[in-house]
Amino acid sequence: MADGQLVDGYGRVHTKLRVSVTDRCNIRCFYCMPEDNPEYAPRDDILRFEEIVRVVRLLLPLGIRKVRLTGGEPLVRRHLDRLVEQLAALEGLAGLALTTNGLLLARQAEPLYRAGLRHINVHLDTLNPERFRFITRCDALDDVLAGIDRCLELGYESVKINAVAVRGLTEEDIVPLAHFARRLGVTVRFIEFMPLDARNSWERDRVLFAAEILERLSEAIMPLVPAPDADPTAPAQEFVFEDGVGRIGLIASVSRPFCASCNRLRLTADGKLRYCLFAIEEFDLKRLLRSGADDAEIQEFVRRAVARKWEGHEINTARFIKPPRPMYSIGG
Ligand code: 5AD
Ligand code: SF4
Repeated sequence: MADGQLVDGYGRVHTKLRVSVTDRCNIRCFYCMPEDNPEYAPRDDILRFEEIVRVVRLLLPLGIRKVRLTGGEPLVRRHLDRLVEQLAALEGLAGLALTTNGLLLARQAEPLYRAGLRHINVHLDTLNPERFRFITRCDALDDVLAGIDRCLELGYESVKINAVAVRGLTEEDIVPLAHFARRLGVTVRFIEFMPLDARNSWERDRVLFAAEILERLSEAIMPLVPAPDADPTAPAQEFVFEDGVGRIGLIASVSRPFCASCNRLRLTADGKLRYCLFAIEEFDLKRLLRSGADDAEIQEFVRRAVARKWEGHEINTARFIKPPRPMYSIGG
């Protein structure tokens, strides 16, 4: 077996893999999905559970330590708990997490917990029902809240909220979400709106910057201080309120790109390996998996893909090219 770490040309060591288990979604957030007729991959092109498990198993000796399941919406994939169970049983996997929009979470939190899942990120941009409807084009705020409650009841080790921050839309949501974090003991992470929407509505003017969010929270609630145990290489800069209650993350993908410390690889639902959310090129791992390749060939393929990784996205330059796939088909 080809052991040794996954290092790219800039010396970045890859330890995290994000696996999209489906490109389908049950809602239509405007910054991700088109309102109608999303283009989904044909079912036969979607990796089977045993293929996903094989890839993860082969990447563990190469230094992958953490896996996050994403979508589309991962909970629309049938029997997801069976995949979780198989992944959780892999020796050497230090962390298994899932990012969901929460609509189906109240029902699935328990089977997933029983299968071994302990870390969950729930996507929630607003606590205001009208704005929720506007953003997601559906009326399900209460379902999401029920899902979060259920995870807290079950004792998930970490429950985090992801909120996309959009200027002219979610300014009013920042403070209520922070109060929500303080009240429930969940981390709320604000993500700068990125140019990955299916309809190209992104403009720099619509990015609500992390620095402004920090200032708004400090003024409205109380000053935030850097979290003492924060991981400096993580995309989210983490803060806590001065009184120690309430943890806030800021993911400043646009105003403060974290490409230099990026340690992530992505596998799309249709089996393409990507070294960046914004990558233009991708690597057809599925074809290799289905052509009878042996373990060493698969490992070598991944190693070569990582070696080609670019320095980083160029959102802040005139050279920026939006990737041909929108967010739901890459898997956040
Ligand atoms: N910009 C920033 N974040 C986005 N997400 C989806 N689309 C965008 C976008 N255009 C986030 C959602 C989801 C995570 C996987 O990606 O919050 O939780
Ligand atoms: Fe679905 Fe997530 Fe995209 Fe919203 S952001 S449409 S929940 S895949």
